[in-house]
Amino acid sequence: MKDYCRRRRQGRNMTAPRGRIIGSSFFVSVMMMVMMFSGLVLVAESAIGVNWGTMSFHKLRPSTVVDLLKENNIQKVKLFEADPLVLKALMGSGIQVMVGIPNEMLATLSSSPAAADLWIRQNISTYIGKGGADIRYIAVGNEPFLTSYSGQFQSYVVPALVNLQQSLARANLAGYIKLVVPCNADAYEANVPSQGAFRPELTQIITQLVSFLNSNGSPFVVNIYPFLSLYESSDFPQDYAFFEGTTHPVIDGGNTYSNAFDGNFDTLVAALGKIGYGQMPIIIGEVGWPTDGAVGANLTAARVFNQGLINHVISNEGTPLRPGVPPMDVYLFSLLDEGAKSTLPGSFERHWGMFSFDGQAKYALNLGLGNKKLKNARNVQYLPSRWCVANPSRDLLDVANHMKLACTVADCTTLNYGGSCNGIGAKGNVSYAFNSYYQLQMQNEQSCNFDGLGVITFLDPSVGDCRFLVGVTDTSSSFRPYQRWVISWLLILWQFWAFRM
Ligand SMILES: *[C@@H]1O[C@H](CO)[C@@H](O)[C@H](O)[C@H]1NC(C)=O
Ligand SMILES: *[C@@H]1O[C@H](CO)[C@@H](O)[C@H](O)[C@H]1NC(C)=O
Ligand SMILES: *[C@@H]1O[C@H](CO)[C@@H](O)[C@H](O)[C@H]1NC(C)=O
Repeated sequence: MKDYCRRRRQGRNMTAPRGRIIGSSFFVSVMMMVMMFSGLVLVAESAIGVNWGTMSFHKLRPSTVVDLLKENNIQKVKLFEADPLVLKALMGSGIQVMVGIPNEMLATLSSSPAAADLWIRQNISTYIGKGGADIRYIAVGNEPFLTSYSGQFQSYVVPALVNLQQSLARANLAGYIKLVVPCNADAYEANVPSQGAFRPELTQIITQLVSFLNSNGSPFVVNIYPFLSLYESSDFPQDYAFFEGTTHPVIDGGNTYSNAFDGNFDTLVAALGKIGYGQMPIIIGEVGWPTDGAVGANLTAARVFNQGLINHVISNEGTPLRPGVPPMDVYLFSLLDEGAKSTLPGSFERHWGMFSFDGQAKYALNLGLGNKKLKNARNVQYLPSRWCVANPSRDLLDVANHMKLACTVADCTTLNYGGSCNGIGAKGNVSYAFNSYYQLQMQNEQSCNFDGLGVITFLDPSVGDCRFLVGVTDTSSSFRPYQRWVISWLLILWQFWAFRM
């Protein structure tokens, strides 16, 4: 706990104390030397990172995403699982990584030290070392205490942590890699921040968790979503969700809260204080604003929220309960849109990206990392510029089932109320659905048939803010159609040239 205060007063460069060589592991020492001499310690200053989720139908190649991170000077990334291709792409990048373990694995890891050893060996040890991935954290479960899971994961969390910590120690990594547990803000509650307390049924288990984290020098990781508060409650004052000041501040004794983020953060600080850990460092594991699929989800709101948040965090002003002490790290949610996510929370769930699925910035954002604006992904491999739309010469009476199938498999969430394609009319709806499905099927010609109701077009059917996507490919095998296409053009050009001669 003392370490925490000292660390913050030293300024924002927390890498050195966090990466202190503990024990005499030759391996860890070598790793540290490599890092120091490659100058990574200097660039690891910023507290702003991103979540990189991969639940997309059109995945960019991992190396393209790593280049995107580098272009934008993003030095910290959080992953939801140990995807081998993603971890390989991060090797040698110098980017600090938090690797997630899905909740479904907690039962096994909690009951078997051998399973924990194997997980660490297969999913961590393989990737680290010289020229490897700079893994700093392992997120054990993702929001395992979420109310909607009705407690199904909660008893596995601490035993899984204990096993994994022993596995880390056996692998000589315990001094370098920290275990954390990202919690949803629904783990605590209060009317005003200073009254913050963990939910009564969680108090015991969270106390064990926090005591474990504290004894290993790990921070508490929390996900905070003012957007969801606004979305879920019609009396939530809209301006309280943002950082621009509010006409509805929360007055808490001598403290005044003008934004939901600070109020939520301090509720956690108070809750931690109540169980004896008021000084525990806090990382924001997820925070962000979606751009589509709901009325309050749009580009302007997302830009204003994220910019307000970033400016607030990097100003170091902190909160009333932690003045001058902002969160250790803040991982924005999210880097890219993920069109294959469940829409159970709402249609907006697929639209949290600062970048669209293909790595194009949706709005101007200064991450505070050197660039004034987000920079787009480069060398994205698109499928050819063609779309599948409703055949204009057919009447669309029998289209309902086709549309339903297309939208069950592919993403049509922008068509819904509040979405960017909500106003494009009945025929537009059909075209949008057909195209989503066609791109998902990698532009397979058959997939645009729909009993003759679909037709392929070379004219972009996008209207206004409603974008009809063209898929991307992440593998060299599906890259071939594009190459064929280029080759046929070259052939045509060659013929043209030869003919003229
Ligand atoms: C490593 O992580 C991946 C992705 O989460 C998982 O599928 C795999 O089972 C893990 N390996 C072990 C040995 O648990
Ligand atoms: C964007 O969302 C904000 C709130 O999240 C809302 O106030 C605003 O009206 C929306 N803008 C548009 C153009 O829908
Ligand atoms: C298009 O589809 C959306 C989503 O199902 C619906 O809300 C909207 O009313 C449809 N538009 C027309 C003109 O049918």
